[in-house]
Amino acid sequence: MESIPNGRVIVFDTTLRDGEQSPGAALNVSEKIEIAHLLQEMGVDVIEAGFPISSPGDFRAVQRISREIRGCVVCGLTRANKQDIEVAADALRDAAHPRIHTGLGVSDVHVFHKLRLTRDEALARGVEAVRHARRLVADVEYFAEDAGRAEPAYLYRVLEAVIAAGATVVNIPDTTGYTTPAEFGALIRGIVANVPNIDRATISVHCHNDLGMATANTLAAVTNGARQVEVTVNGIGERAGNTSLEEVVMALRTRRSLWGLETGIDTRRLYPVSRLVSQLTGIPVQPNKAIVGANAFAHSSGIHQDGVLKERTTYEIIDPRDVGIPDSEIILSARSGRAGLRHRLVELGYTLAEDQFEKVYRRFLDVADKKKTVDTRDLEAIVADEAQVFFDEAYHLEHVQVACGDHSIPTATVRIRDAAGRSYCDADHGAGPVDAVYRAINRVIGEPNQLIEFSIQAVTEGIDAVGRVTVRIQAEQAVHENGVARRVFSGRGSDTDIVVASAKAYMFALNRLIAARREAAVQRAEEPAPVE
Ligand code: KIV
Ligand code: ZN
Repeated sequence: MESIPNGRVIVFDTTLRDGEQSPGAALNVSEKIEIAHLLQEMGVDVIEAGFPISSPGDFRAVQRISREIRGCVVCGLTRANKQDIEVAADALRDAAHPRIHTGLGVSDVHVFHKLRLTRDEALARGVEAVRHARRLVADVEYFAEDAGRAEPAYLYRVLEAVIAAGATVVNIPDTTGYTTPAEFGALIRGIVANVPNIDRATISVHCHNDLGMATANTLAAVTNGARQVEVTVNGIGERAGNTSLEEVVMALRTRRSLWGLETGIDTRRLYPVSRLVSQLTGIPVQPNKAIVGANAFAHSSGIHQDGVLKERTTYEIIDPRDVGIPDSEIILSARSGRAGLRHRLVELGYTLAEDQFEKVYRRFLDVADKKKTVDTRDLEAIVADEAQVFFDEAYHLEHVQVACGDHSIPTATVRIRDAAGRSYCDADHGAGPVDAVYRAINRVIGEPNQLIEFSIQAVTEGIDAVGRVTVRIQAEQAVHENGVARRVFSGRGSDTDIVVASAKAYMFALNRLIAARREAAVQRAEEPAPVE
């Protein structure tokens, strides 16, 4: 890895670790690898690929990302103990640039209540963890968890000791999203002034968004000397999420004269990566989300539209093309043919294998037939449905038919094919058409689960719009011999018929659940249970 030049802020992406901790975001190994490749292509410097000891799936994801991603630092999270660190080093063994990210709490509530240690004992444990990690890899980052609520004098002591023990990066997390920009900036300033050996380590910051200040806090830290920012795509993460990658990158770029600092990010990749992460995690991007939200560049008031038409910069501080927002004016029809569709997909940043392209083409013709024109958002929904499935489908929905109305009992019939090619047909009734379809599917597949979220959205305007349905289901899954965990799986589906879209979304989530259950069973058979 080339050394990072002065004047550069290092972008540490934790979408695959902290981001994946968002409820329901669970990604399988293939999905994580797909995202890791896109992060690398976008120019991220460090990818936090997972927490290897937490599950065999996380271990394998870190291992495979270490093998495939050669241009970034690949990082694995650990607690401050030998076993976690050794397992992480093992997962990172084949990485071109491995990093272990270890640490423990520094606030009194963490030290006294969570860890049940004295401050000196916690400090000694942190130092020992860094020493041990340095025996295994050359690059060790230390996180001082809950630094935002810690007593600064103790934090300085911890940082000095872990840097002396060999930490190359010190991470100052605002774990609970408690601080304000002025406070967090002052904390970083205090570290620069009071930790004598701070010049031997890079200061990193990791902010949570509980009070909506994660981006502001991260930028205040950069103003005061932090040179690594820990971020996630779309700001996903624990609770209210992490600092959003696209916001920090575009703030540093748009207000370059304030900071005079660059990142290595190709900003034209921001929008496609945001879409992919949203589709794979099932976590929608709020329409008014800065940089990548559907309304981030929409001008609805007449005065604004008039201004933008005369001179774009009257109401736009960023050119949408700079963040990769596709020109939504371009529309296709059935007459565009394969060549027209292929050309547009390449423009939108999709590279599809031939069989994926054929599936997308068939769906495209179907939608074009019903709607006459197909725009960018329709295409994104089609690709998400047809080409971005990273597991083998155990069951495929062949047919769904519903009868409903104000004086009839909603009834659904489904035909489902299994992986061996056998077709099953069943029917049921329900409180409404979607309920009837889900019951009929359950009669065939029989996979116990609970529907915990159902949302429906029109992809485009108009009565003939494609509807996109997102569902989340919860199911119990065996994690090791005697343990079960409750896991959430999301599914998405789109169609001009919202009942069909609902059926597809449910099938998607069920297939994910079945794939995860089978993967866990194979791993349990192959590997020892994780140690808590
Ligand atoms: O929020 C936090 O403190 C973390 C650490 C593990 C870095 O995620
Ligand atoms: Zn975090």
